[in-house]
Amino acid sequence: GPDRAAEVRALVRDVPDYPHPPVVFRDITPLLADGGAFGDVIEAFADLAEAHGGIDVVAGMEARGFLLGAPLATRLGVGFVPLRKAGKLPPPVERVDYELEYGSASIELRTGTLRPGSRVLLVDDVLATGGTARAAATLVERCGAVVAGLAFLLELAGLGGRERLAGRTVDTLLRAES
Ligand code: PRP
Ligand code: MG
Repeated sequence: GPDRAAEVRALVRDVPDYPHPPVVFRDITPLLADGGAFGDVIEAFADLAEAHGGIDVVAGMEARGFLLGAPLATRLGVGFVPLRKAGKLPPPVERVDYELEYGSASIELRTGTLRPGSRVLLVDDVLATGGTARAAATLVERCGAVVAGLAFLLELAGLGGRERLAGRTVDTLLRAES
């Protein structure tokens, strides 16, 4: 309910001009440190997953997506797949490159980890431009799996994230103006 959302929101710390101006960093470490609120967030994600009707696996984007995705997977009784930054996983890997505001990045997944047709819930802390999430969705689909939905703790409005994920099911627990 709204009280729970307000409690969770108060535990996400906004840090202006970090790592550089004009970025406002959204720090979830106070939330993770609060057992009750962290549990509430995982329960809220579980409700979303159940609304999507059958998730076979949760996938999380390195690094903060691991912190939310792994406890969600165990809560749902399904496996967890880490989508990692470049060069962290031994070969063979599938890889998707994507553009950042400055430069580019890559996200990788061990070949053969996802079964074709598997229904995957993608989880991350923040939806900003949607670049990371779109690359993650592309990676999952390239493996023949299905993106059943994408779930985020916090959506930063006005950065085009939803538009970049158009055609996919996107749920966010909290919204903030960017
Ligand atoms: C942050 C955040 C999301 C992503 C959102 O991760 O955790 O994954 O940026 O931005 P986008 O929608 O514009 O792609 P970051 O790459 O900073 O690294 P981390 O999770 O490893 O801390
Ligand atoms: Mg991240």
